[in-house]
Amino acid sequence: MDELKKLELETIASITAAEDEHTLESIRVATLGRKGSVSHLMKILGQITMKERQVIGPALNRLKSCISHAILDRKETLKRSSIKVRLPREVVDVTLPVRPDPFDRGHLHPVTQVTDEIISIFSDMDFAVLEGPEIETDYYNFTALNFPHDHPAREMHDTFFFSEDENGERKLLRTHTSPMLIRAMETKKIPIRVVIPGKTYRQDLDTTHSPMFHQLEGLVIEKNTNIAHLKWVLQEFCRSFFDGSELNMRFRPSFFPFTEPSLEVDIQCDHSDSEVKVGEGGDWMEIIGCGMVHPNVLCSGGLDPDIYQGFAWGLGIDRITMLKYGMPDLRSFFEGDQRWINHYGFKPLHIPIL
Ligand code: DAH
Repeated sequence: MDELKKLELETIASITAAEDEHTLESIRVATLGRKGSVSHLMKILGQITMKERQVIGPALNRLKSCISHAILDRKETLKRSSIKVRLPREVVDVTLPVRPDPFDRGHLHPVTQVTDEIISIFSDMDFAVLEGPEIETDYYNFTALNFPHDHPAREMHDTFFFSEDENGERKLLRTHTSPMLIRAMETKKIPIRVVIPGKTYRQDLDTTHSPMFHQLEGLVIEKNTNIAHLKWVLQEFCRSFFDGSELNMRFRPSFFPFTEPSLEVDIQCDHSDSEVKVGEGGDWMEIIGCGMVHPNVLCSGGLDPDIYQGFAWGLGIDRITMLKYGMPDLRSFFEGDQRWINHYGFKPLHIPIL
């Protein structure tokens, strides 16, 4: 009996001293567990006399319940004191300034934003989006587009050519997105209604030209499509993009080897201040080249010009970005200056409002 009392006192003392649940659990296993000290004593009950068992049995049961209650009590006490410690540590100071949202810190480049805006306008008109290679062959960039062999645009001063490869072929960085007109005709089913945004390259650098710039090509091929459809599509686009139902536009005859007739689209603007204002004033600015796809180009794309016709256009994304958002110098677009992007950039979750 003395031994039981001693075991009880020792166990209770260690339970009271336990500082965490883990220690309590090991005390429980060491006493009440299958191989624990109390369980061991229970097993011995079988080896003693009936009389002794009548005294020791109930005493052992009492010890067992006393230990498990002590463990439960201690657990409860520990839990309460740990909450007491955590509460002041986790207190929220509601007077602190709000931390900037990660979405407020990063910005979309204006070219990305404007590309999204353009795509969303043409998606509404049921156009699909295509992309194509920036490294092109002379065939797709020029020949298939009806450029005569001596056309000046093929010359070194305009085009970035690669060195000849082992087959004697000289690849180039596409000078426009128009090679995609051919690739679209080769791969898409008619009716074709696609827009193709992407990077283009020419050897040029000043406030309105960069050696890498962005274009958006558009193509419609159907049996009966005509120049009135071309005019409507581009008018709708410009009015949505520049947010002006009253925006004045002018279609002017022009020349491109791959369209016949060819046109250029000007929008009304005002140059009198340092800043260009769209939709007012007495000046005109050219923003789009377009026309009816030339029969030779339809043939290059594998289509019969006696059955199909279509229209196409190309616009400079950087230029209409500068116009819409009043950015004076194209070169800063690609300098990677964080102050510029913080000023002119857009919030990533900003949905284009058109
Ligand atoms: N590729 C022409 C350029 O870079 C732009 C262009 C004009 C594209 C007329 C077209 C088009 O699709 O029909 O200047």
